[in-house]
Amino acid sequence: MALLEVKQLTKRFGGLVAVNQMNFEVAQGEIVGLIGPNGAGKTTVFNLISGILPATEGSIVLNNCELSRMPAHRRSLAGIGRTFQVVRPFEMTVLENVMVPALTRTKNTAKARKKAFQVLEMMGLDELAEAEPGNLTLAQRKRIEVARALATDPKLLLLDEVLAGLNPTEVAENLPLIRQVRDKGVTIIFIEHLMDAMMSVSERVLVMDQGSLISSGTPTEVTNDECVIKAYLGEEDPQC
Ligand SMILES: Nc1ncnc2c1ncn2[C@@H]1O[C@H](COP(=O)(O)OP(=O)(O)O)[C@@H](O)[C@H]1O
Ligand SMILES: [Mg+2]
Repeated sequence: MALLEVKQLTKRFGGLVAVNQMNFEVAQGEIVGLIGPNGAGKTTVFNLISGILPATEGSIVLNNCELSRMPAHRRSLAGIGRTFQVVRPFEMTVLENVMVPALTRTKNTAKARKKAFQVLEMMGLDELAEAEPGNLTLAQRKRIEVARALATDPKLLLLDEVLAGLNPTEVAENLPLIRQVRDKGVTIIFIEHLMDAMMSVSERVLVMDQGSLISSGTPTEVTNDECVIKAYLGEEDPQC
């Protein structure tokens, strides 16, 4: 049975259809890549799943639980975790930044601190626990963003361009973390522009263009799909 089932998901902003009748499923334990040209609607899909924006139409079911009419904090409790494309850590230490989301799961500060440390260790950030995020590199701040999402123990983690803006060495260091998180039992959908990185870690890829899902399959299948190649080259094809 699928962990996540998305049916007929649609978002209109006035006359613009940012997400158009999307249907897809994600199985427990999968790493699914979500790609598409700029403005395709990828971040909007994450906003709809996490409840930052209400869907115009459609259903979002996680573990048999219908999320589409729940507010964002209830979806977080139901098991949705996400990162934001633009990272905005709080002006607190790295540890405190990760404790804040952990405190949505326990009122006990000592427990939240323990959870935050565990997650920081997993992300290789434990030595920076007392640092201020403002003094760290973008690569480190992106890791904090992932750590904050993990502190809520999500079942499904939505990663929005966590590798964007990093240099090749940093990408190579951060990439294995995605698999490591999945190996702890977290199902992952991730948006990424860096094709090589995306292809090396995704088991399945969904491709969006102009709000619609235009292809899905293994990395090799989608990169050989004519519709995908045309979408990236900006060509219209009536058969796609
Ligand atoms: N809150 C919003 N209000 C109005 N239009 C939006 C909003 N969010 C996104 N859009 C529009 O929806 C389309 C898809 O955007 P987005 O989901 O951010 O694309 P992607 O993440 O694939 O680059 C774009 O045309 C964008 O301008
Ligand atoms: Mg985006």
